[in-house]
Amino acid sequence: MKILTFISLISAVAAFDVIREAFRKVDDSKDPCDNFYRHACPIGSDRDLLIETAYADLFFRIKAKSVDAIWNNLEIEKTLMRTPSRELTSTNNFIGELFLAQCEDTHVKHEELLHFLKQIEHYVFKFDGSNCEYEGCLSALASDHNCTRASEKLKTTVVIDFLFLNLSEFWEKKFRIAKYGLDGVNALLDGESKQGVSKVNHLIERMQKKLISWVNETEWAINNGADEAIIEETLQVHHYDNYADSMRKNLQFLMKLEQDYLKCLRDTKREHDFETFCMLMSIFASFENEPDLTFFTFYNAFNAHPKLSFSQLFYDMAENVGESAGVLGSVGFIAGHELSHTLIENANAPQLIPYFSNESMQCIQNQYQKTCDHFVEESCGSADNQIDENGSDMLGLQLAYSLFEEEYQGRMDEEYIRIQNLEEYRSITMEQLFFYSTAFVACSGRSQKQRLGDGHSPWNVRVNAIVQHPGFKKAFNCPANSTMVESFDDQCIIFGKGAPEMRR
Ligand SMILES: *[C@@H]1O[C@H](CO)[C@@H](O)[C@H](O)[C@H]1NC(C)=O
Ligand SMILES: *[C@@H]1O[C@H](CO)[C@@H](O)[C@H](O)[C@H]1NC(C)=O
Ligand SMILES: *[C@@H]1O[C@H](CO)[C@@H](O)[C@H](O)[C@H]1NC(C)=O
Ligand SMILES: *[C@@H]1O[C@H](CO)[C@@H](O)[C@H](O)[C@H]1NC(C)=O
Ligand SMILES: *[C@@H]1O[C@H](CO)[C@@H](O)[C@H](O)[C@H]1NC(C)=O
Ligand SMILES: *[C@@H]1O[C@H](CO)[C@@H](O)[C@H](O)[C@H]1NC(C)=O
Repeated sequence: MKILTFISLISAVAAFDVIREAFRKVDDSKDPCDNFYRHACPIGSDRDLLIETAYADLFFRIKAKSVDAIWNNLEIEKTLMRTPSRELTSTNNFIGELFLAQCEDTHVKHEELLHFLKQIEHYVFKFDGSNCEYEGCLSALASDHNCTRASEKLKTTVVIDFLFLNLSEFWEKKFRIAKYGLDGVNALLDGESKQGVSKVNHLIERMQKKLISWVNETEWAINNGADEAIIEETLQVHHYDNYADSMRKNLQFLMKLEQDYLKCLRDTKREHDFETFCMLMSIFASFENEPDLTFFTFYNAFNAHPKLSFSQLFYDMAENVGESAGVLGSVGFIAGHELSHTLIENANAPQLIPYFSNESMQCIQNQYQKTCDHFVEESCGSADNQIDENGSDMLGLQLAYSLFEEEYQGRMDEEYIRIQNLEEYRSITMEQLFFYSTAFVACSGRSQKQRLGDGHSPWNVRVNAIVQHPGFKKAFNCPANSTMVESFDDQCIIFGKGAPEMRR
């Protein structure tokens, strides 16, 4: 179970080949043809995702690079974090009570009260000076001799009413997203995984070409006059790597909040009592604004057609995983999955492309259901499980494999490394490496279940379903009566020669 034959020094600074390291986890007491996912990725091998655990050091280093950066030390965020949201009920109540307290305090001058209302006009209603309109004109309230009445009126006038609990949850998340983005870009600007970014770019371009050539030969697309439209959609997809733009947007987002907050505080006399108020004013002024989530450090990748975004993790893998077959099986599979999102649709209601083959859809669904039936752990399978995710897994792996096939023509069976199984050594071939990498990038040490509302199938199902590819049987020499092979339906060819529908 332990690897002996290669040197495996992990160091926080030297290049770190996460795929090579992951071979330490392989459980040779389980046959790969029996349950490939759990052979490659045993239960308990990690707390959760292997890749995340393996990259804990990198995350820490990335975070450490920017602890002192302004975006990680915002005054407004500190106030937001310490606002006792359970004690403060709704934001309107808070603003009304604060008005009442000032109104009843004989030390507070009329101008101060007026100024307080003007701030609300400015930040909430976006009015300045005397140009307020209708219900946004609050200054008369300062002249009401009945403070209770005026404060009640104010409470019903400020329309953005939130429970503090909701507001802080919602906004802490927005701050976090902007900071992830900035930390990620900061690390890239520092030279971290820069090559990885261009490698991912290149990978996607190659896959795009491949996919287009497949679509061009897909009978169901041609016969329905949808081939050109599908090719057009495919051409639109690109890896979003404009990190300067992302940085500008996130800095703009955060700095506006911080500036408004500090300005509001500066304009009040008793800063201390007004921190929560000014935090609210600043947030209300930016209420519609969103941070930019295109660079991030946590484990994720997504397709916001036509833009594809990837975690820093995958850039690092693209840069530092030594053998190309290992990159293709892992990052290649993830990139293929994201690219495929543009082209996999529910045949009964396609959204982006004009037509999708019903037979392809049924084939994908059948394979996933069959895999679920064979390998269920805690749970799998659900009626509203989306075709998008299941199908993108399958097409994604096919794309990655086809690049592997081109690159390793004639040397798929070459030895990558040897691993020791009890007393014996076992050779891992390049083709096996490809499939192991797919399992490793998807490896969770936890027993898998279908999460409610999540379109993704559980990891064990995802990996065991997509290796229905003929390459897998070949690579591991799986007998026809093995559990893996028995769980395979006919290969689902989604695009390309031999794709179903119109073939009969
Ligand atoms: C002040 O207004 C409140 C609410 O409108 C009312 O209940 C109260 O009687 C008023 N107090 C005086 C002294 O008029
Ligand atoms: C606050 O959150 C709760 C639970 O998530 C939700 O039911 C409620 O509608 C939210 N309230 C507001 C004012 O957004
Ligand atoms: C599609 O195939 C035809 C030949 O069948 C070829 O002329 C055309 O250039 C191809 N288009 C693309 C985008 O590959
Ligand atoms: C796809 O197949 C299912 C089941 O065979 C059928 O109910 C559905 O009408 C088909 N949809 C289309 C668009 O052909
Ligand atoms: C997706 O996969 C699940 C198994 O994880 C299966 O139950 C479901 O039917 C599949 N859905 C589609 C539309 O492929
Ligand atoms: C598969 O078939 C072979 C040869 O017929 C047999 O030796 C083996 O035990 C079978 N394996 C399983 C898992 O049934």
